[in-house]
Amino acid sequence: MEAAAVEIEHLSKRYGRFEALREVALSVPRGSVFGLLGPNGAGKSTLVKSLLTIVRPTECRGTLLGERIGHRRTLAKVGYLPEHARFPEYLTGRQIVGFTAGLAKVPAKQAKRRAEELLETVGMKDWADRKNGTYSKGMRQRVGLAQALVNDPEIVFLDEPTDGVDPGGRIEIRKIIERMREEGRTVFVNSHLLGEVEQVADEVAIMAHGRIAESGTLESLTRRDNRYEIRTLGPVPAEVRAELEGDGLEVAGDRIASTAADAKGVQQLIDRLRSRGVVIREMKELRFTLEEVFLKAVQSVGKEESR
Ligand SMILES: Nc1ncnc2c1ncn2[C@@H]1O[C@H](COP(=O)(O)OP(=O)(O)OP(=O)(O)O)[C@@H](O)[C@H]1O
Ligand SMILES: [Mg+2]
Repeated sequence: MEAAAVEIEHLSKRYGRFEALREVALSVPRGSVFGLLGPNGAGKSTLVKSLLTIVRPTECRGTLLGERIGHRRTLAKVGYLPEHARFPEYLTGRQIVGFTAGLAKVPAKQAKRRAEELLETVGMKDWADRKNGTYSKGMRQRVGLAQALVNDPEIVFLDEPTDGVDPGGRIEIRKIIERMREEGRTVFVNSHLLGEVEQVADEVAIMAHGRIAESGTLESLTRRDNRYEIRTLGPVPAEVRAELEGDGLEVAGDRIASTAADAKGVQQLIDRLRSRGVVIREMKELRFTLEEVFLKAVQSVGKEESR
């Protein structure tokens, strides 16, 4: 089997006595969108910088694209949009993309063609020859995304890609991320915007105080023990309600909560309701929201901290 895109067995980073990263371990499957979530100061940027050798980890064991973390040549296959990326104001969007291409040693002809395509993808084609100094925040981020892709990377690290971008721009950035995945790239996104990550990530890790508090697929993290909810058209009639409650189900107005091993287990209840003339409006599996999972994870690390 091909190695994971990122496989961290053990990574720690101390700034003097301050532990910015503590025994971080995580695995990012190839071709997936991975969201690293965490409150301000959790260590997200430090982790990404450690993988990219911008920061020197105190202890580090793991691989990036199958090579030891820190292996220089592997970095040629990596794209990066730094947090608060600031490119020189006097360069045009096209020049910024060209500049990164030069750093990544992309052959000139290829770089030119690629820059053209990418500026189009991020919706900056018409602005490509204006100076960075005239761009809005959202436009700067788009150019940032384009430069992160110029070397046709296998993995792209995006540190807060939607920072300062308006809702419309965020949706577009999400589409660009989805497109990266379709192209087979691995995308590693740092964010504290849960809703945004929820919509695009296959897997997430939640970090707090330099530790990974939780990680897994969204499916597994938000799972709640076999709880289902049925909503009926109008309140459940009194006699049906009494009957259901007699069987230990919870009924409140137009909602019936039930425990079942899977969706099949709820069908009998649905049949029963329908046979009594009750109209079903909705049936869903109850899940925790990512926000609930996030807050719980962050709090649990916080408690350990204060011990
Ligand atoms: N060069 C440094 N020297 C000392 N401490 C640092 C240094 N860089 C980062 N830190 C500290 O390490 C911790 C983690 O910072 P980091 O920037 O990785 O957090 P983050 O999760 O990216 O936060 P944000 O969401 O605000 O971007 C913070 O407490 C920060 O103050
Ligand atoms: Mg950060």
